[in-house]
Amino acid sequence: MQVMETKILNLLKENSDSFLSGEEISRQLYVSRTAVWKHIQHLKDAGYEIIAQPHLGYRLQAVPDKMLPDEIGYNLNTKIFAKKIISFSSTTSTNDVAYKLAEQGQDEGALVVAEEQSRGRGRMERKWLSPPGVGIYASLILRPKITPIEAGKITLMGAVSIAKIIRKLYGITALIKWPNDVFIENEKICGILTEMNAEQDLIKFVILGMGVNVNNDAAQIPPGATSLKIQTGRQINRIEFFQNVLEELEAHYVKIIQREFDFIIDEWRNLSLTLGRRVKIKRESKNIEGQAMDIDENGALIIRDDFGFSHHILSGDVQIER
Ligand code: BTN
Repeated sequence: MQVMETKILNLLKENSDSFLSGEEISRQLYVSRTAVWKHIQHLKDAGYEIIAQPHLGYRLQAVPDKMLPDEIGYNLNTKIFAKKIISFSSTTSTNDVAYKLAEQGQDEGALVVAEEQSRGRGRMERKWLSPPGVGIYASLILRPKITPIEAGKITLMGAVSIAKIIRKLYGITALIKWPNDVFIENEKICGILTEMNAEQDLIKFVILGMGVNVNNDAAQIPPGATSLKIQTGRQINRIEFFQNVLEELEAHYVKIIQREFDFIIDEWRNLSLTLGRRVKIKRESKNIEGQAMDIDENGALIIRDDFGFSHHILSGDVQIER
């Protein structure tokens, strides 16, 4: 979207309960009335419902149900995140795009979003089903000045922020399954995929990728998963949800770069579905079974096995035994 279109759109949003004349718009933004008309046509092409009334002017009726930069960025209360938004109606994987952009020097906080992914990826080389127009597929570029070992907190903050916003906006008990899946009543609603580019002691960048099932119907999610629409019984405003998530994420990120790590770990503990349960970790080497006791300061899961030995698990798949 051109800068002028964003400006016209924002004027229409500020005056959405009345008509705004072409003359008034052209006066406020120093452009000709013909130019205003052309920009309005572009906005309509992008899916904005704008009514034009002779002698009265233009009025914004409805915004499209799309993850457009102008919508995500409108009144967004962040200082670092999503100041730059790169959006696609379809792409391979927002993580792949963000990774390439980060390699090319894209700024911290830049956000990549897509309406659909053709090669959405999950942890452990799994696929992430990414049907068009219903989910959130987003990746943030981060350049935290912490060590690679400490980067686990970025993943934790992703799951914590999303679980908290689901609780706050919809009153649903969202919990986190270690390490970073958000669950509602034993069904997965969100996954986080963080990917890092680092040297020995220095992080170059981290990509925080988030996939949330929002308005997916039952046929649009894999078995064992759920969506916000299924849980609430209504269509969810993806923009409102995602803006809240971005603001929450940034608040947590600021704490991480100020090295207030305990805060994130404590919040994770309070939202955990895993701690206190009997679990089985499937690993390539050897499976481990026991009681999930806690997470350590790096986000590793501490398990006490039946012989009383403690194990710090850094990665793997947890099966919660009933
Ligand atoms: C998982 O649960 O295994 C993690 C899923 C992460 C999916 C998101 S969708 C946006 C970003 N792009 C991807 O290809 N994956 C992440």
